Amino acid sequence: MRVLVTGVTGYIGSHAAVELLGAGHDVIGVDDFSASTIETRQAIERAAGRKIEFHELDLRDGKGVECLLGHAELDAILHFAGRKFVGESVANPIRYYTRNVTASVNLFAAAERNAINNVVFSSSCTVYGNPAKLPVTEQSQIAPVSPYGRTKAVVEGLLQDLCHAQPKMRALALRYFNPIGAHPSGLIGEIPWGTPNNLVPYVMEVATGERAVLSVFGDDYNTPDGTCVRDYVHVVDIAKAHVLALEAVRRNTFGNRFENRDGFGALNLGTGHGSSVLEVLDACRTATQRPIAHQVVARRPGDAAVIYADPTRAASELGWRAELDLITMCTDHWNFAQNIAEQQADVS
Ligand code: UD1
Repeated sequence: MRVLVTGVTGYIGSHAAVELLGAGHDVIGVDDFSASTIETRQAIERAAGRKIEFHELDLRDGKGVECLLGHAELDAILHFAGRKFVGESVANPIRYYTRNVTASVNLFAAAERNAINNVVFSSSCTVYGNPAKLPVTEQSQIAPVSPYGRTKAVVEGLLQDLCHAQPKMRALALRYFNPIGAHPSGLIGEIPWGTPNNLVPYVMEVATGERAVLSVFGDDYNTPDGTCVRDYVHVVDIAKAHVLALEAVRRNTFGNRFENRDGFGALNLGTGHGSSVLEVLDACRTATQRPIAHQVVARRPGDAAVIYADPTRAASELGWRAELDLITMCTDHWNFAQNIAEQQADVS
C-alpha cells in the first residue's frame, strides 16, 4: 500500500514508518518539524534500508493537505501528527484544538473527497480519564479530563461519524498506554524537547548526567510500593500494531467480534501489566548501570493511582500482543538517549 504517515518524524510515527517499510509498504511522510527534526527522516531510511517520500506540511494548511491528498495516489492514512502534553493543553487549549482537531478535520475532509478509505488513528488511553474499573477495556467510559484528552476523543468521534456517513470508509483508533523505548538500532527514538514531562525520558536525562535527580510524584498511593502504576509498552510493539491495524482495515476484517457496524473500531495497546514508578526506576538502573538519584515529592495533580490495559481485543482482532519486556524497553531507550547525548555534545 501507499501509506500517508502524518507526523512521520515524531516518536511513534518514525517507528511505524520503519515497520511499514519493513512490511513492504511505501511511506509518504509528512511533518512540519514543530516537534521533530529533518535528521529523523534519514534515520528512518537507515533503520529500514529503504527510502521514503517526504513532504514538509502543516496539516492546519487545508489547501496544502488537499493538494497532497489529491495527487499522492494513497491507499491509506496513518495519522500521528499532533501535540501530546497534558499540562500544555490546559495552558493553551486553542493550540490543541487547532493542531489536533482542525488539522484532523482538514486531513479527513481531503481523504473523503479523494476516496482514501483506510485510516488508522493515533489515540491514547487518556480518552478514558481516570477509569473506574481495571483493567481498562474499550467499553470503559470515554471521559477525558484534559483538553489534550478531549481532542483525542473528538477526533475518534469524527472518524466514527465519517465511517457512518461513508460506507467505504474504515478506521481504527489505537489507544496507546505508556509507550517507551526506542528502535533497537539506536537510530530513532523520542527526542527530548526541553524538560521531559514523562517518566522514562526524565530518568534517562538523570542517567546521562543532564539532570541531577528524578522527582517521584508521590509514594502514598494505594499501590504495593505507594507509587503510581502504569502500563509501559515498547514503542516497537506499538509500531508493529499499526501495520497489523492497517492490514485489518484494508481487509475490513476487524470488528466481527465487537460492536463495529459502521467500519470504526478502537483498540487498546498495552501489555496488560502495570509497573510502578519505583519498578521502572529499578529497571532503568539495571539497563543503564547508573545509580540514578531520586527523591520523593508531592503527588502530581491529576495522576490516577493505577492504570493498565486489557489488551485482549487487540489480540483477537489483530493477533497483536506486546512482546518486549520492561528491561528491553529501558535498554533500548537508554541506547538512543546516549546517542542523542553524544550528538548534542558534538554540536556544542
Ligand atoms: C502521560 C499523560 C498521558 C499521555 C502519556 C503518554 C499526563 C497526566 N498524562 O501519562 O495523557 O498519553 O503520558 O505516554 O500527563 N512520574 C514521576 N516523575 C516524573 C514524571 C512522571 O514520578 O518526573 C510518574 C507520574 O506521576 C506517573 C508515572 O510516572 O505516575 C508516569 O508518568 P508519565 O510518563 O508522565 O505518564 P502518564 O502520566 O501515565
